[in-house]
Amino acid sequence: ETAEKGGFDHFMMKEIHEQPKAIRDTLSGRVKEGVVDLSQEVGLTPEQIKGIEKIHFVACGTAYHAGLIGKYVMEDLARIPVECDVASEYRYRNPIITDKTLVVVVSQSGETADTLAALREAKSQGARVIAITNVVGSSVAREADDVIITWAGPEIAVASTKAYTSQLIAIYLLSLYFAQVRGPKAVSELSEIVSHLLELPAKAEAVLKQEAQIAQFARGIATSEHLFFLGRGMDYAVALEGSLKLKEISYIHSEAYAAGELKHGTLALIEENIPVVALATQHAVYEKMVSNIQEVKARGAKVLGIAVEGNHELQKTVDEVIHIPKTIDLLAPVLTVIPLQLFAYYACVERGYDVDKPRNLAKSVTVE
Ligand code: G6P
Repeated sequence: ETAEKGGFDHFMMKEIHEQPKAIRDTLSGRVKEGVVDLSQEVGLTPEQIKGIEKIHFVACGTAYHAGLIGKYVMEDLARIPVECDVASEYRYRNPIITDKTLVVVVSQSGETADTLAALREAKSQGARVIAITNVVGSSVAREADDVIITWAGPEIAVASTKAYTSQLIAIYLLSLYFAQVRGPKAVSELSEIVSHLLELPAKAEAVLKQEAQIAQFARGIATSEHLFFLGRGMDYAVALEGSLKLKEISYIHSEAYAAGELKHGTLALIEENIPVVALATQHAVYEKMVSNIQEVKARGAKVLGIAVEGNHELQKTVDEVIHIPKTIDLLAPVLTVIPLQLFAYYACVERGYDVDKPRNLAKSVTVE
């Protein structure tokens, strides 16, 4: 088993470190000269792509969090309205589906019962369904109209890491592909985004180098029973994933909040020494985020900030800063999530729990 773990203590750590490769493999063969080509996988004609009126991202768990990022990305790049739903809600809530609705189901295993049921429901109501999945030949892959495989390789740890970052890549590719056809943005702007996309594997590698610093902060908060993640915009969606990771394996109760909502309740829970992980990678809302961080600091929170390289200012406000390499805001989630995965990992190890097999959880939930 040590050999299978590639020299790491746990599958989760091995899989965290496999992310640069998983990202590279998921991009591979799908980008040619600055243009995304998914024509081999997505059978929609240009007319059909132009005719899409609404997209629903539907998934569970970590894959749902990838879908949340999909809403920001698809709406920004392709200007198609997007809704994102948890599959167990979607299948029972009578969503508005027409033949102009595209449903994108996201599932690492391709076997999650609720996701599969949501896919069937969407198809029976006339939607076209694209599956983003990590398993060739899985139920979701077989039943969807089109399949985009995430080439993350087998994921063993229950807490999903490389599958999530690969799902994000698939979502960027699909959004760019649609944007190219629908044309809301200049071709040069899209190819600029593509060039940043291709730099992500090397940048993910760079984030991993900050492991020691993240481990130290994680050990420092390991006895805490409550913790908060804060972010705005896409950082909020990443915060939800960071919070889920921490809960799943370290059993520390944590909540992710859209930082602007702090004043509407959560601030009441911030007291001396409560750990807060504050994501501040999105330039459009950076100043707002800093003032939210000041609000929790003023009440004694111990803050780990995540900022973009070159930011020398945040460290004056927080207790510790982790920097991610510079990229465009839209792509930052792929890098921002990595410190949060490492953070959850080290908090779990420090507390002495089983990283790869958390209590009560299964890798694939094939029953409702
Ligand atoms: C389980 C796993 C999660 C996963 C979720 C959805 O809860 O523990 O890691 O995100 O199922 O699984 P799927 O295979 O559909 O992505």
